[in-house]
Amino acid sequence: MLKMVVCVSGGGTNLQAILDSLGSGRITNAEIIAVISNNAGAKALERAAAHHIPGIVMSPKKYPDREAFNEAFTAKMRELGPDLIVLAGFLVRIPPRMVAEFSNRIVNIHPALIPSFCGVGYYGLRVHEKVLERGVKVTGATVHFVNEGMDEGPIIEQKAVRVREGDTPETLQRRVMEQAEWILLPAAIDDIANGRIAVKGERVVRLDTVCRDT
Ligand code: GAR
Repeated sequence: MLKMVVCVSGGGTNLQAILDSLGSGRITNAEIIAVISNNAGAKALERAAAHHIPGIVMSPKKYPDREAFNEAFTAKMRELGPDLIVLAGFLVRIPPRMVAEFSNRIVNIHPALIPSFCGVGYYGLRVHEKVLERGVKVTGATVHFVNEGMDEGPIIEQKAVRVREGDTPETLQRRVMEQAEWILLPAAIDDIANGRIAVKGERVVRLDTVCRDT
């Protein structure tokens, strides 16, 4: 059974998609042992509580500096000892030491087709604002392993979503979530929990022969 810690910052709709998938059997061999939020008011914490999953608040603002937060955050993760850390809308940079200690065991969902619209400053609604500003016609979401770079780790899966005439950042965000994020993240977790993918250098390879068309 794959033990997961899910890290969140806000609404927690991706967390909800994971919870629903665990409930429906779309994800097997996995469980969430804790949810960590940097924001005490995150709706995601209510979603965790509704499923009797412990919620832990760890905000960088409560520490004298980033180094102190990074140490406490990494120590907490070590104590929890998950097999997989899932960043489901977590808007805090993962400490380098945690990345090293949990190498290829941290996944992130990003609301664009990496390597487009990613890196410093590209998070949440801002990503969709930039997509609309640039006028691209196709965007999407990416689920990837986290390395020491920003949105740079090995890509597990991606899904394209069309930008529509008249989209606002909010309508586009919603479509990317519905058509891509809430499908990709549970599917990736299920693949990891059931040993269907592996990291080979910079790339993720499938160990089964079935091509899952999400
Ligand atoms: C999601 O769109 C997620 O992809 C994004 O934040 C949103 C969180 O929504 N993450 C990033 O931008 C990370 N760079 P949620 O709290 O409802 O899941």
